[in-house]
Amino acid sequence: MDPNASGLAMRLAEAGQSHLLQFWKKLSPEEQSDLTVDLQGMDFQEINGFFKKAMDTSSSAKQEKLDARMEPVPREVLGSVTRDKERLKDWEEAGLHCISQSKVAVLLLAGGQGTRLGVSYPKGMYDVGLPSHKTLFQIQAERILKLQQLAEQKHKIKCCIPWYIMTSGRTMGSTKDYFSQHNYFGLEKNNIIFFQQGMLPAMDYNGKIILESKGKLSMAPDGNGGLYRALGNQGIIDDMERRGTEFIHVYCVDNILVKVADPSFIGFCVKKGAECGAKVVEKTNPTEAVGVVSKVDGHYQVVEYSEITLATAEKRSDDGRLMFNAGNVANHFFSFSFLRDVVQKYEPELQHHVAQKKIPYVNAEGQLVKPDKPNGIKMEKFVFDIFQFAKTFVVYEVLREDEFSPLKNADSQDAKDTPTTARHGLMSLHHRWVLNGGGHFIDENGRHVPAIPSLKDGTDLPIKCEISPLVSYGGEGLEELVKGREFHPNLLIDEKGVHELVKNGV
Ligand code: UTP
Repeated sequence: MDPNASGLAMRLAEAGQSHLLQFWKKLSPEEQSDLTVDLQGMDFQEINGFFKKAMDTSSSAKQEKLDARMEPVPREVLGSVTRDKERLKDWEEAGLHCISQSKVAVLLLAGGQGTRLGVSYPKGMYDVGLPSHKTLFQIQAERILKLQQLAEQKHKIKCCIPWYIMTSGRTMGSTKDYFSQHNYFGLEKNNIIFFQQGMLPAMDYNGKIILESKGKLSMAPDGNGGLYRALGNQGIIDDMERRGTEFIHVYCVDNILVKVADPSFIGFCVKKGAECGAKVVEKTNPTEAVGVVSKVDGHYQVVEYSEITLATAEKRSDDGRLMFNAGNVANHFFSFSFLRDVVQKYEPELQHHVAQKKIPYVNAEGQLVKPDKPNGIKMEKFVFDIFQFAKTFVVYEVLREDEFSPLKNADSQDAKDTPTTARHGLMSLHHRWVLNGGGHFIDENGRHVPAIPSLKDGTDLPIKCEISPLVSYGGEGLEELVKGREFHPNLLIDEKGVHELVKNGV
C-alpha cells in the first residue's frame, strides 16, 4: 500500500525518519510490502526516546568515575564455596529440596548474535570438540535432567525444572528445530518454553535508523536485559505463576561449566531470604576487564572496569584480595515475586546502554558500505540492570576453574574464551572429579600422570576426560566407577559405562 495513503509516510516524517522510504520507488512490490510490515510494527517516537536517553546517559557516564561512591560487598551478604565450606551441604540440601518441590525454574539467555564466535547458527548449537561432541544446549539439558533425578531420588517425589529459553528473531526457528530434532534431549517437551526477546534498529549518531539494504532496516536484539520486557509481553511471568515457580536461576548460553539450577546457590539465596543474588568469581588481576558487583550509593550494581580508576581497581583489603573482586559472570538468582515486580513496575525505568558498532549501511546511491570504524550505535539493556531494585541482595562466590569458562571468540593464536579454552576447562574439571573419586590416569608406560598437567610444547594440554552430566551433575557419584582404577588419558564416562577411547591427541 502507498505509504502516503496509509499514513505511514506521515508517521515517519513526524519522527524524523523519512529517509527509510528513500528507495521506495526502486523496491519490488514484495520488498515494498515487507518494508511496510516492518515499519508498521514500530513505535518511532518510543525508539527516538530510547535513543535520546541512551545517548544522554552514555555521555554523562563517560565523564563520571564511580570510585568515591563505591563500597565492596559486605561479608554478611557473601557466601563463598571456599570460605564457607561447612555451610555448603546445608545450602545444597535446601536448594535440592526446593527443586524437589518443583519451585525452581531455569532461564537461559540465548538471544545473542554471537558475532565474535562468527557462526551462522545459535551459539547453543556449538560443538567445542569434546569426545562426545555434545553441544552447549545438550550439556545444559542433561544437567537439568540429572538434577531432577537427584532431587527425585533424595525426596522420593516426582519433580520438574521448567526451562525457559529466550531467543531472538534471528535464533528462534533454528533453536526450536534443533530441540525438536533431538527429542528435547530427554526432557519433557512441555517443560521447555521458548520465547522471543525484542529487536531494536541500529541508529547513526544523529538518531537516524540505519538501512542495511534499500528495503530493510538494520535490526539487532535489545540486549540480554530485553528479558524483562519479553517476560511480560510473551506471557512468561503468567506461565511461571501457573506452574508455582518461586525461584529462578538465570544464566548465559555460552558458559560451558554452568551449574544450571545450582542447588547450593539456590539454597544459599533462599536461606538468606534474598530477592536477588549474583554468582561471582574472584577477580584477581586489577586490570582484568570484568564488571564487578559492588554497592554504589547503597544499591547493588555491576560496575564496569571503565567506570573506575586504576587506583581503585588496585585497592586491596587486609586479606590481600582486591577490594572490588566480585567478578560478574551473568549468573543470577531471582525470587519470583521480585521478578514479577521488575516486569510489572520497574522495567520502564531501565535505560538502554549504547554500544558503538561498525554497522553496514546503504548510502544515498543505494550501495552497501561496510565501515571500518564505528558509525552508529546499537541499544541494549543488561540483565543485571535490575539489581538496584532488590531490597535483599546476596552474592555467591564460586571458583572460576569449576564454574566459568565462556565461549566468546573463535579459535586463534592469542584469543581468550574460545572453543579450545572451553573444551580444556571442562576436561580439566572432569579430570579433577576422577582424581577426587579415587581414580588415576596412567601414561603409555603405565606411570601415574601428575595431577597438574605439564607444559608440553608451550601448551598446557589437559587430560582428555569427559563425564556425561547424565552420570554426574557436579562430581558426585563417581567413586563406584573410578575408585582405585587406572585410566588412559582419553576417558569418556557416560550412561552406558566407562570407555577408554583411542589413545593420544586432544
Ligand atoms: P554477549 O554479550 O556475550 O553477546 O552475550 P553474544 O551475542 O553471545 O556475542 P557477541 O557479543 O555478538 O559476540 C552474553 C549472553 O547474553 C545473551 C547471549 O545469548 C549470551 O548468552 N544475549 C545477548 C541475549 O540473550 N540477548 C541479547 O540481545 C544479547
